[in-house]
Amino acid sequence: MQDNSNTILSEALEAISAAADLRALDATRVAYLGKSGLVTGLLKALGAMAPDERREAGATINIVKNRIAEAIEAKRAILEGAALSTRLAAERVDVTLPARPLQRGTIHPISRTMEQLTALFGAMGFVVKDGPDIEDDWYNFGALNIPAHHPARAMMDTFYLHAAGRNRPMVLRTQTSPLQVRTMLAEPPPIRMISPGRTYRSDHDATHSPMFHQCEGLVIDRGITLAHLKGCLMDFLRAFFEMPDLRARFRSSYFPFTEPSMEIDIAWDRKTGAIGGGDDWLEILGAGMVHANVLANCGIDPRDYQGFAFGMGVERITMLKHGIADLRNFYESDGRWLSHYGASPFAPVMLHEERGL
Ligand code: PHE
Repeated sequence: MQDNSNTILSEALEAISAAADLRALDATRVAYLGKSGLVTGLLKALGAMAPDERREAGATINIVKNRIAEAIEAKRAILEGAALSTRLAAERVDVTLPARPLQRGTIHPISRTMEQLTALFGAMGFVVKDGPDIEDDWYNFGALNIPAHHPARAMMDTFYLHAAGRNRPMVLRTQTSPLQVRTMLAEPPPIRMISPGRTYRSDHDATHSPMFHQCEGLVIDRGITLAHLKGCLMDFLRAFFEMPDLRARFRSSYFPFTEPSMEIDIAWDRKTGAIGGGDDWLEILGAGMVHANVLANCGIDPRDYQGFAFGMGVERITMLKHGIADLRNFYESDGRWLSHYGASPFAPVMLHEERGL
């Protein structure tokens, strides 16, 4: 009995280690531990033995049975691991494949124009000021000499927001001019600042959008005159349009917050669309000497300090510079349009000095 068990054990262990795959291993399990397997046969034979003999043989057979079962489990783990590795190798993904070519982004033409404004006016000593899009009615209108029922409010119809606990409404700012007020209240003259940013009006067509961009400019100092305004804006226009001989005219106009007020037109040729020369005029920006009431509203004595302000539409000057016909294209995020009009992120913004303008 003992010999027989040992023989069965060693044969079983050999068969287990020889099993090349899970199927062969299972066949071995059936041959030894299955219902009519060899070990099961030994157990069945126990019934015919005398009790003493049976106890001893039973213990031996149990040991043999357990050792075979353990060996099978150990081998199963090895074979399963191998099967997994084979599957992984077969289903491998080649991560070394080159990636799809990246679409390189461009700087949006609006952003690029604002960078250029910053560079050009920066070279003239202007700093950049920023303010909230949701503005206090008083900064957007009241302090700028536009009282509650002034017709200028109708021309700049906007979006009013009635905030709880406030007696004045808030407005989506219709112009960047509130930055004139904010700057004068925040710091004493001399002031030289520009303020590019978003503005809002309830307008929508090929040349107007409910959200658009403006750039304000403000200079306050002693003895500032219209001559400074003209010189500054001529330098700017010639540098921005990269035309040292660009012609412009200063045409008298009206803004509640400047006196005198003017609009500035640049020359162009209606037939060819060419800018800079020709017999036609294109309005490009508004400007004027800061109104005495505005200075006083901002705590500056108009007998002591004078200044000029100007404001322009960023979309408008960008459209004129690049010959863009429809303002709505700026906001459509069409990749083809953007890659045509967008600027390379690596191209530096040139200063007018560097171009000899
Ligand atoms: N804020 C004016 C507008 O939106 C432009 C302007 C600014 C005019 C500064 C004069 C001085 O039309």
